Amino acid sequence: MPELVWHDGQIFPPEDARCSCLDRGRLYGDGLFETMRAYSGQVFRLDTHLARLTASADRIHLVLPMTSEELQTAVQKTLKESELASAYVRLTVTRGVGGSPSQLDTSTASVTIWVRPFSAYAPELYPKGMSAVLAEARRNEHSPLSGLKTLNYLDNLLARAAAQQAGAGEAIFLNTSGQLAEAAASNLFIVEDSCVLTPPIEAGILPGITRACVLELCAAEGIPFTEASLEVDQLPAAEEAFLTNSLMEVMPLTSFAGKAIGSGQPGEITKQLQQAYRGLVDEETKA
Ligand SMILES: Cc1ncc(COP(=O)(O)O)c(C=O)c1O
Repeated sequence: MPELVWHDGQIFPPEDARCSCLDRGRLYGDGLFETMRAYSGQVFRLDTHLARLTASADRIHLVLPMTSEELQTAVQKTLKESELASAYVRLTVTRGVGGSPSQLDTSTASVTIWVRPFSAYAPELYPKGMSAVLAEARRNEHSPLSGLKTLNYLDNLLARAAAQQAGAGEAIFLNTSGQLAEAAASNLFIVEDSCVLTPPIEAGILPGITRACVLELCAAEGIPFTEASLEVDQLPAAEEAFLTNSLMEVMPLTSFAGKAIGSGQPGEITKQLQQAYRGLVDEETKA
């Protein structure tokens, strides 16, 4: 079965999976999710994704209905049953049904795992690079939801849709202080004086799993790196820039607001990190 849904303990083909229309995820966006990628039938950094989910659940007072070990087993079982080697794996947790809007009762919290064939970003983007524009909305680094992958994702979807309408692939968010934050569905890196720079978590960004891998790889490869507040002008003036997320890995960002970044081609450090990331994935997911 290439596409499967695990929902609160049972596995279904997607058309048979059911949940309440009164679920708080649906009513209020009261929940969290993780988007993961499986290679060779194994989810890359599953434990780190589950650690982020658990830490985020604590922050919104959502008691997960399953332990990390149980979640891990459910993800692995669903993936195995799908027989997919290369897959998109999404885990969604909601606070479930019931309670007044302000009551944070989690006794009916609900878990859904969705596994489907991985559909890659257009392969021609990797050698060419992606373009981005500035998002209209801002990341709110003061929000209690800052840094969480919650079901309140509409800012991101609207920004990405607007970017695509403008002929770009991604939208870059500033935070409320006007500093660079992240993209609609990825973390942002620039290279300045051969040093890799990325905004700190306090800039209001998601602590990306891929971002953390890239910082690990910079250390391993001897590439200078630092987390630093970045002004918007630093992006078009950068030598190189790139974006990261679990699905697209390391994507060169070669133009911003219609202007080339650096040479307008993927830079050498970006290419080195792209390769190193692939190597890390191979190492951790080989059968
Ligand atoms: C807003 C945002 N920032 C960053 C990321 C990258 O996170 P990760 O590397 O954990 O996939 C994502 C992933 O979807 C995202 O939605």
